[in-house]
Order: sequence, then structure tokens, then C-alpha cells
Amino acid sequence: MIDPDDPQPDEGRSRPSSDTLSERDFARLAVIIERHAGIRMPPSKRTMVEGRLRRRLRALGLPDMNAYCRHVLDEGGLDGEMVDLIDAVTTNKTDFFREPDHFDFLVDEAIPELLRRRERGAIKLWSAACSIGAEPYTLAMLLADLTASNSNFRSSIFASDICTEVLESAMLGIYPEAMIAPVPMDMRKRYLLRAKTGARDRVRIVPQLRAAIRFGRINLMEAPYAADSDMHIIFLRNILIYFDRPTQHKVLTQLCNHLRPGGFLFLGHSETLAGQGLPLKPVATTVFQRS
Ligand SMILES: C[S@@+](CC[C@H](N)C(=O)[O-])C[C@H]1O[C@@H](n2cnc3c(N)ncnc32)[C@H](O)[C@@H]1O
Repeated sequence: MIDPDDPQPDEGRSRPSSDTLSERDFARLAVIIERHAGIRMPPSKRTMVEGRLRRRLRALGLPDMNAYCRHVLDEGGLDGEMVDLIDAVTTNKTDFFREPDHFDFLVDEAIPELLRRRERGAIKLWSAACSIGAEPYTLAMLLADLTASNSNFRSSIFASDICTEVLESAMLGIYPEAMIAPVPMDMRKRYLLRAKTGARDRVRIVPQLRAAIRFGRINLMEAPYAADSDMHIIFLRNILIYFDRPTQHKVLTQLCNHLRPGGFLFLGHSETLAGQGLPLKPVATTVFQRS
């Protein structure tokens, strides 16, 4: 999980060599991480990875980085460490109402179009790399407002991530006050709770929204995905950038199998489908519709 204390590139110079991540060990870890989670780990990430793994070696009671690498790489510890290793190296930056034009498009264009098509049952949404929950809770706030103004409107939200730490945090739904700045004031009143005593710099999502989201762990590198195959809307934002092109293509192809014809796929603003040859046509900035 992202750690604001990630060391700067020149930190750690004075440490003994057994307490640094050697080029060779980093290269071996990079292959494991990319194979398992799809996340590219170029040599420039070595210091960042070393910083994040320091928490792991402390948790395992190991004396230094070399002992951690021997445990994971040479002494059979990898299977037991895989989930925590991946948790440690994922980058989980997120925000409420991130890339806000997507939420305008969702409410003003995508959902009305789905409703005009008289899709039966609930509108099904999937936040497929949900991090600590800001994205699915943003969706939940908007959908709760739609339900309040239209009693026939029904929806369901599934949210998944590979990282177990962020999923635990998302299920708790507790956030630092500073994170809620992008949430409109009227929504804060309806959907956020403030502690009466104690941690006043924290807010919590109201129970009705926490209950509206089903969370699960899905590694997008491991198909088939344990998710419904008839989603109306999939958010896959700010994750493809960590994958190489063949992996992007593999993941997008799988996700198309979970999207109904006419359903919408939202990617991050710096992500693209160019040349991927998928059954998706662009309908707004990094929003695509399944043919
Ligand atoms: C930068 S966050 C994006 C969060 C959110 N979608 C947003 O745009 O604000 C990327 C997320 O992708 C997750 N991730 C990385 N590799 C993954 C994989 N192979 N399968 C599922 N999730 C993955 C990370 O754990 C992280 O929480």
C-alpha cells in the first residue's frame, strides 16, 4: 500500500549492503510482481520497493533486507508472503469525485440511456480497482441521490481490488477529513458522519452506503473473474497505466466479457484503448461503450 514515507532516491546510501535491496534481488522480485499482479517494476522503482518492503521485514521479525529476500526468493517463503508482498507494492492513490467529468457523464448520459433502454432490474456497477473505496463510495452517493428522486431506480455496486489492506480500509469507510474536500457540501451532510468525540479529523460513510457496496478481492491477472457477467457500468480507472500493453489487452478483453452490450467502461484520464481492437467505441473522454 502506498506509504507517504517512501524514501527518496538518495536515501539509504549509508546502510550496510545486507540491508539494501540488491539489483539482482530487485530484478527477481520485479519478475514475480509483474507475473502475479501485472504491475511493471522498472529499475527506477527499486528504492521505492525497498522502502515499502521494510515494513514487511519488520512484521516478519527479519533482521535486514537480505534476510527478507532470502526468505522470499530462496527459502520457500514466497507463497506465504505473496499477498503481503503485493499489498506492499501496489500504489493506491485515489480521491472522491476523481476526474469529475466522469461522474457528470454517468448521471447525465450513461444512466439515463440505460434507463431509456428499459433495462430490467437493477443497474449494475463494478469498480474494478477500487483502492480504499473513494471511487465506489462516490458512485454510491450519486446512486443514492438518484434513488431518492426516483423510487423505481435500483442499482447495485461491486467493488474489488487486489490489495487486501485497501479492501479492509474501504469496508470500514473511515477517511481523513482532508480527503472529503471534493465531496459537495449537501452530500457530506447526507452521507458522511463525524465522530462526536475522539477522532474529529475523521469522517465515516453512513451505514446505508457502506451496506450498498459488496467488496471482494479480484486480481485482474487471474481470469475468470468472480464477478457478474452482465454489468452495465465498469470503472477501471488509473490501473492500466501500471500494466504493459499485452496485459492491458488481456484485462480489457476479459472485462468486455463482464459488460453488457450497450454498457459503459470508464478508464482513467491518462489511459487509452488506442489500437486494442476491442468491441468498445469512445463516447466521452476515456469513456467507452460496449457494442
Ligand atoms: C491508483 S489506484 C486507482 C484507484 C481508483 N480506481 C481511482 O482511479 O481513484 C490503482 C489500484 O489498482 C490496484 N491493482 C493493482 N494491480 C491490480 C491487479 N492486478 N488486480 C486488481 N487490482 C490491482 C491497486 O491495488 C490500487 O488500489
